Amino acid sequence: MAEVIIVPSEQEAGRLVGDAIADLITDRPDAVLGLATGSTPLAVYRHLSDRVRRDGVDVSRVRGFALDEYVGLPAGHPESYRRVIEREVVEPVGFDPARIQVPHGDLEGIETAGERYEAAIREAGGIDLQILGIGRTGHIGFNEPGSSLASSTRVKTLTEETRADNARFFDSPEEVPMHCITQGIGTILRARHLVLLAFGAAKAEAVAAAVEGPVSTSAPGSAVQLHPHVTVVVDEAAAASLSQAPYYRHAWANKPAWQGI
Ligand code: GLP
Repeated sequence: MAEVIIVPSEQEAGRLVGDAIADLITDRPDAVLGLATGSTPLAVYRHLSDRVRRDGVDVSRVRGFALDEYVGLPAGHPESYRRVIEREVVEPVGFDPARIQVPHGDLEGIETAGERYEAAIREAGGIDLQILGIGRTGHIGFNEPGSSLASSTRVKTLTEETRADNARFFDSPEEVPMHCITQGIGTILRARHLVLLAFGAAKAEAVAAAVEGPVSTSAPGSAVQLHPHVTVVVDEAAAASLSQAPYYRHAWANKPAWQGI
C-alpha cells in the first residue's frame, strides 16, 4: 500500500519532499526527476531551491521530464507547460535547461511526439522520482478518467471540468486547449518512486479514491496502488476522507528514521 503522510501544512510537505529530492541528488548527481506543474508541487520546488542556495546541492547534472503539455499553444505561450516548468522549476532551482524535457505539444510532429518522449525517458534510464499532483477529476498528469492503466505518452482530450479548472490561467475559458500530450499511467508506473501530493478539501475525494478506492480507470490516481514505492503527502483537509488516517499517522510516527520516504 502507499505510504500516506499527513502533514500540517504545504510548507511542511515542501520540506519533506524537497529534502528527499535533495538527498537523491546528493547520492546520484545525474538523477532523473519527473516534474509536475500545477500549484501543488510549488512548495517542493521552493524548498529545493532553498537547499540548493543554502547547502550548495549541485543540481547541474540533474535530468528531468515534465508530465504533460497542452497541444497547439503558440511557441512561448506563458501558460505552456514548457514555460511554466522553466519559470517555476528550472530557473528558481537552477537546473540546466538543456537537461529538462517537456513533451512536444506543437501540432507539427504531434503524431510521433509520444513515442519520441517515451524513447527519451528510456534513454535516460527511466525516472527515479516522479512528483505528482492530482486533479479534482482524479487525473494524474492529464490522464483523465477512463485512461488505460497501461497507457504511454500520447495525446488526450481534456474533460470540460479540467478545462474549467485551468481556465484561471488563460484570458478566457475558450483559450484552454482541448487536447494535451501526457505521460501515460503506464509511463508513470515505470518511475522508481512516486510522490503524490495534494492539499485542500477540494482534493479529499480524489485522494481517498486514489489511495483507498478500487483500482480503476475511473479513478486514474488509483493506479498508484499498483506501484511498490509510493509516498502520498497530504494536508489535513485533503486527508479528510481517508478511512485509514489513524493508521497512517501511527505508521508515520513510528517509522524508523533510516527508511526515509
Ligand atoms: C493539471 C496538471 C496536473 C495537476 C493538476 C492539479 O491538470 N496537468 O498534473 O496535478 O492540474 O493542479 P493543481 O496542483 O494546481 O491543483
